[in-house]
Amino acid sequence: MNLDLSKLNLTSNPFEDFELLEETLDKETVSQHNVLFKDREEITKKLLLGITTSTSYKVVLHGEAGVGKSSLLNKVLHDLRQRGYFAIKYRVTEASALDANLFERELLRTFGEEIAREASRSKSFRDRLKSIIILGTKRDLRQLSLLAVLYSSGQVTIREGQVETDGLSMTVGIPVLKAEVSEQEQKHIEITRVETLSHLVFGQLLRDGIGLLKELNYRGVVIAIDEIDKLEEKLEGRLLTIVKDTFYPAGLCHLLLVMKTRNGRKPIHPDIFVYEPVHSLPKRYVFEFLEEMYRAKAIDKKKPLTSLLDKRLFDELYDKNRGIIRMVLKDLSACVIGAILTDKSRIDDHVYQRTKVTDALQAYLMSLRPDDREYKILSYLLKTEETYTRDEDLSKATELSKSALSYKLRDLEERGILVSRKRGSFRIFSIDPSLRARVKSIIR
Ligand SMILES: Nc1ncnc2c1ncn2[C@@H]1O[C@H](COP(=O)(O)OP(=O)(O)O)[C@@H](O)[C@H]1O
Ligand SMILES: [Mg+2]
Repeated sequence: MNLDLSKLNLTSNPFEDFELLEETLDKETVSQHNVLFKDREEITKKLLLGITTSTSYKVVLHGEAGVGKSSLLNKVLHDLRQRGYFAIKYRVTEASALDANLFERELLRTFGEEIAREASRSKSFRDRLKSIIILGTKRDLRQLSLLAVLYSSGQVTIREGQVETDGLSMTVGIPVLKAEVSEQEQKHIEITRVETLSHLVFGQLLRDGIGLLKELNYRGVVIAIDEIDKLEEKLEGRLLTIVKDTFYPAGLCHLLLVMKTRNGRKPIHPDIFVYEPVHSLPKRYVFEFLEEMYRAKAIDKKKPLTSLLDKRLFDELYDKNRGIIRMVLKDLSACVIGAILTDKSRIDDHVYQRTKVTDALQAYLMSLRPDDREYKILSYLLKTEETYTRDEDLSKATELSKSALSYKLRDLEERGILVSRKRGSFRIFSIDPSLRARVKSIIR
């Protein structure tokens, strides 16, 4: 079988789905992603203005899954860092969605990790951090809180009255620093070790850490939390209240929250958060984006995207998916595979119809239950390879009369799952060879 994409002028599938400008990327990838990132100018400006013109801007970005919310968030955080903001991003996980305490601990850990990342970016920040760690005189409470935050993310350890920067040194690539700590100081730093960190302590640590950072010449601190919608309704309200209580009264930092559009769910604290919708990108931007993606994987870079993808089909895919990029990418990936399977050199309507059909087939097969007659027939055919209209054994296995059986076999043939041929007065049925693997993965 031909598994080669060169007939499509491709080295690999260009239509992969990934968040743009994810924060751990290296410089080169960031500039590639900047090219891929299209439009969003108005909303980006609005968010930047909201933040740069106030001390504590609070916004909830909401939109459909796959429309580009996380990428937009990454872009805004990236721009803010360049403008002298300290920004952390935390993504709610399946586990932290169920457990407020874990949520708080993970948020602290993310904070500590960002401090380490910032230290690797900036020498002056590194020096300030060093001076806090190796302080000769007694450390104040805020400095201890900052150390506690670093401790909670494993950036510093404490042993026998000494604080050590082994984790931090690894991330930042500096020699290990050691400094004395008193018993009391040690207690304060180790406070995050307690299994159930109290809300009060959590809030205090974050506020202290943020307060201290703001004195280090940052223009402001931004806390971003992605996928808030993972939280269950009750917990969502509670966590947002925690977040609000921690940051709101002091107006210490900016909050950017991201969630899927809430179908019928009440907005949380609409008096405090601005709700900004993230709409799907206009068609021409999505096309330009696909063009960039395609060019990166094209063998002959001079050939335009339209040589691979029928323009009318693109329009249809865009409309059908309401401009949601992730769904367009998913359809196009299936089409790339479809084109190879049918030995075509471009993605046209024929290829698309075929992938749609196999999608429908897949859905049909998945809907069958082991008790269904159709399931039993397919299961039988996987073992015997062939059957025929008056097959006694199949009749027994399915508990169907021969005429009912003949009807079901023809129905499965019409659906494109079985193929048949005549042999004398019999009709021989078998599973379409190109579907056998698919059937086998679903039917036992
Ligand atoms: N501004 C943009 N320009 C081009 N492509 C984008 C843009 N924003 C997102 N994408 C693409 O859209 C897809 C979904 O983006 P993502 O940010 O993960 O969406 P969400 O967080 O809303 O589910 C990704 O494949 C991403 O590469
Ligand atoms: Mg996302």
